[in-house]
Amino acid sequence: MHRRLIVPGAIAASLMLAIPASAANFQPGAPGIGDPYYPASGNGGYDVGHYDLRLKYQPATDLLEGTATLIATPTQDLSRFNLDLGLTTHEVRVNGRKAEFRTSGAQELEVTPASPLPRNRPVSVVVRYSGKPSEVKIGGWTAWHRTPDGGVAAQEPDSAAWWFPSNDHPLDKATFDVSVSVPDGTQAISNGVLQSQSSRLGWTRFNWRSDKPQATYLATLAVGRFDITTDTTAGGLPVLNAYSKDLGANAGAARASLERTAEVAEWLEEVFGPYPFNALGGYVPNVRSGYALETQTRPFYSPRQFASGSNVSVVVHELAHQWYGDSVSVEGWKDIWINEGFARYSQWLWSEKEGEGTAQELADWVYASRPADDPFWTVKPGDPGPDDQFHVAVYDRGALALQALRNEIGDEDFFRILKGWPTERAYGNAEVADFVAYAERISGKRLGALFDTWLYQPSKPQAPAATGDRT
Ligand code: ARG
Ligand code: ZN
Repeated sequence: MHRRLIVPGAIAASLMLAIPASAANFQPGAPGIGDPYYPASGNGGYDVGHYDLRLKYQPATDLLEGTATLIATPTQDLSRFNLDLGLTTHEVRVNGRKAEFRTSGAQELEVTPASPLPRNRPVSVVVRYSGKPSEVKIGGWTAWHRTPDGGVAAQEPDSAAWWFPSNDHPLDKATFDVSVSVPDGTQAISNGVLQSQSSRLGWTRFNWRSDKPQATYLATLAVGRFDITTDTTAGGLPVLNAYSKDLGANAGAARASLERTAEVAEWLEEVFGPYPFNALGGYVPNVRSGYALETQTRPFYSPRQFASGSNVSVVVHELAHQWYGDSVSVEGWKDIWINEGFARYSQWLWSEKEGEGTAQELADWVYASRPADDPFWTVKPGDPGPDDQFHVAVYDRGALALQALRNEIGDEDFFRILKGWPTERAYGNAEVADFVAYAERISGKRLGALFDTWLYQPSKPQAPAATGDRT
């Protein structure tokens, strides 16, 4: 590739001889990818295509150690670049050669390769690292769940920096091979298909592969003592569920919920189109927290979700995210409604199908149960701000927006949109505005005012005619 240097007149030729092009054109990659909600998330200047993680984890001490190999492509002429990692780095190699590195802040690993990296030429980056994830604090908190028998990485908007170096933002998706060695009798769970498992010298290695583009926050690792069930769907996909051996009284309800994963996915395929990934399942570690997460192909569930009995609704929610969130991902975290509004609405559709209340009835109920002075209505699902990214309004008001859309355009176009969008945007990223434009295209209606009312106004919208006063 030829680079043009703009140097005036006669000195140009001699300058070009004296100064390598790199000195003039090669620049550091930005330390953030440019997300206003989380300026330090991700990095600029390159795109990762594949992560290969080869790790070892000791539950007794919470020590994680290993090697990450990234295959990446510079998107600019790079003099240096950043990775996001909270653990301790011992060595970095770029294209096989030792690179200089230093850490800055809690999560920035700054790498200066021995020679600069030209744009568009793929590079390999090897990072040797170790540490105790439970001791890593980034922005004052930890995404790592320490459990009595191991640990779990599953958090949103990020968890990657607690266990592997990455370009930690949904804009840069990649495929993953995750190989983790743990003491015999312990299991390591991750995304995708368990390719193989073997034991030697008292350690068992689990080799996982997630072969479709995956955002870094959707990569998961769980180490602990699990009961594992396996099956194959009617369509031939492997299903693998993992239950901590330490779920106590919640064990039965957890199984009664997760074992319906294939059934729920089959139903969701009717609504959203073909399942986008190569495997199915879920896992329930013995964490104390109460949330779930749509970790790709294998959602994470907390035992507390099964404290009152089976909870298929949460399975519906996390599986809906496989289309809305995992395959079609946010472009920036302000777009979180693209994920949560639809995952919540899918729970309403499931309720409708199960005869436990229609989506319209649930919308009416949510609307009526929130008086106009409820702070719920001050949250704008279309741009909630980082502090309210997971506010219940993003979910419930976000689903109300979809019910308003359904009433405005009718069931035929509404369901055409629900199915068409994940197909058209599969494995990509999207903004809220992209969805609005898509809904307008499919329905042939102007929908700007409707979405502005339901997603962007910090006040309780007037009940639409179709809501509340139906006969
Ligand atoms: N996307 C997750 C869900 O749908 C939300 C996780 C939010 N994280 C949290 N710590 N509350 O359930
Ligand atoms: Zn969700």
